[in-house]
Amino acid sequence: MKPTFPVRKIHLPSYLLTLGFIFFVALLYSEDLSCIFKQPFQHSQQLLLQQPTTTEEKDTHVPFAVGKTARGCNIFAGKWVYDEEARPLYEEQECPYIQPQLTCQEHGRPDNKYQHWRWQPHGCSIQSFNATFMWEMLRGKRMMFVGDSLNRGQYVSMVCLLHRVIPEKAKSMKDFDSHTVFRAEEYNASIEFYWAPFLLQSNSDNAIVHRVKDRLVRADSINTHGQYWKGVDIIVFNTYLWWMTGRKMKILHGSFEDEEKDITELVTEEAYRLTLQSMKKWVEENMDPDKTRVFFSSMSPTHEKSIEWGGEPGGNCYNETTPIEDPTYWGNSSRKSIMKVISEEFSKTKVPITFINITQLSEYRKDAHTMIYKKQWNPPTPEQLANPASYADCVHWCLPGLQDTWNELLYTKLFFP
Ligand SMILES: *[C@@H]1O[C@H](CO)[C@@H](O)[C@H](O)[C@H]1NC(C)=O
Ligand SMILES: *[C@@H]1O[C@H](CO)[C@@H](O)[C@H](O)[C@H]1NC(C)=O
Ligand SMILES: *[C@@H]1O[C@H](CO)[C@@H](O)[C@H](O)[C@H]1NC(C)=O
Ligand SMILES: *[C@@H]1O[C@H](CO)[C@@H](O)[C@H](O)[C@H]1NC(C)=O
Ligand SMILES: *[C@@H]1O[C@H](CO)[C@@H](O)[C@H](O)[C@H]1NC(C)=O
Repeated sequence: MKPTFPVRKIHLPSYLLTLGFIFFVALLYSEDLSCIFKQPFQHSQQLLLQQPTTTEEKDTHVPFAVGKTARGCNIFAGKWVYDEEARPLYEEQECPYIQPQLTCQEHGRPDNKYQHWRWQPHGCSIQSFNATFMWEMLRGKRMMFVGDSLNRGQYVSMVCLLHRVIPEKAKSMKDFDSHTVFRAEEYNASIEFYWAPFLLQSNSDNAIVHRVKDRLVRADSINTHGQYWKGVDIIVFNTYLWWMTGRKMKILHGSFEDEEKDITELVTEEAYRLTLQSMKKWVEENMDPDKTRVFFSSMSPTHEKSIEWGGEPGGNCYNETTPIEDPTYWGNSSRKSIMKVISEEFSKTKVPITFINITQLSEYRKDAHTMIYKKQWNPPTPEQLANPASYADCVHWCLPGLQDTWNELLYTKLFFP
């Protein structure tokens, strides 16, 4: 039988074969492409795994590391265990630094089980948090969290975990616009937060005036904020939620002062890629891999639609008091495409950036949000009070709570990579 479409015998010209071979060899040997054969995000772990001789050990020292996590253990894969004894790590009223937007008990949350869950990785255990030890390691150093309100929550959690061992008169918390600094005098050390929800400069950088519709992010502007991060010893980035506008992102080329603005629109994933690339460039130019550490926290999930976890239609995180038990649960699938961008970009870094993969473990925690139990900007209307889910915050997290676990994981990656 004759095929119904013409078939041509193909003779590859020899120059094409040669070109193909050259490309193949280039692929095998190129530094930039070598990551294809590596696992992403495992820089530090990988370096530690290959240390048969002492000379290599010296070459591969990871700053701040004092030990290592069990070989091959992914501390981000595990399950939540209810532990009334060991969690929380501090009490809400013991930490004066928690913003009233996160103090859920003070604002009438009726349950407190959300404070008692401990993260248990499948293959090993995470290190117990030792505040004195951490201050000793931070002596004369600066640690900075950079990003949005979720990262601010993690920053405050870190301060809550650390401040108790410092006497009252030897510590201070100061605000300078976008920059907050907690200092421990006797250690000459600070834990800082810098507000930059896109990392890049934007017209929404003012913490109060937020314009979702006209949101404009300026390309190649990482140094606008980055000049204030210089000189830190440990930096922890995040950025995610502000990119999730549900529409294309407007990217400004040039300056905010230009009369004729040069603006292009990018789909969320590509705009997000732009900021990761700028962040990597800043890290390459400003962080010394022999002395400093760089971390990046993945997306903090939201729980806006209870049908996603098999709840009633129209509901959200409001009234949820237990974690999701389905280990395969992965809420909004748009997060997967962002995770893919992170994966792609981080597999190509020239400098080690340690990834704090908190997305999956936080997806389970529909019970851990602040809901309606927080200081409100405006008092709720009678309509809202009649339907509390309508004004529940399913983005931010109560403290103490989930974000203390993020810091236990950060602590583990910092000292036991
Ligand atoms: C915490 O760290 C300090 C300083 O390294 C050490 O003296 C102390 O024994 C540690 N505490 C615990 C409970 O391990
Ligand atoms: C305090 O720490 C800073 C770095 O954060 C360092 O430059 C300075 O020399 C330290 N001061 C003292 C007295 O150790
Ligand atoms: C996922 O999140 C995006 C951004 O917040 C939103 O636009 C979209 O509707 C969500 N999808 C679902 C299925 O909930
Ligand atoms: C929340 O829980 C309360 C008490 O169990 C119940 O009366 C109320 O109907 C619930 N609200 C929603 C929106 O599920
Ligand atoms: C983060 O962890 C989740 C769950 O373990 C995994 O599916 C995802 O691929 C991880 N992301 C990256 C970029 O490693």
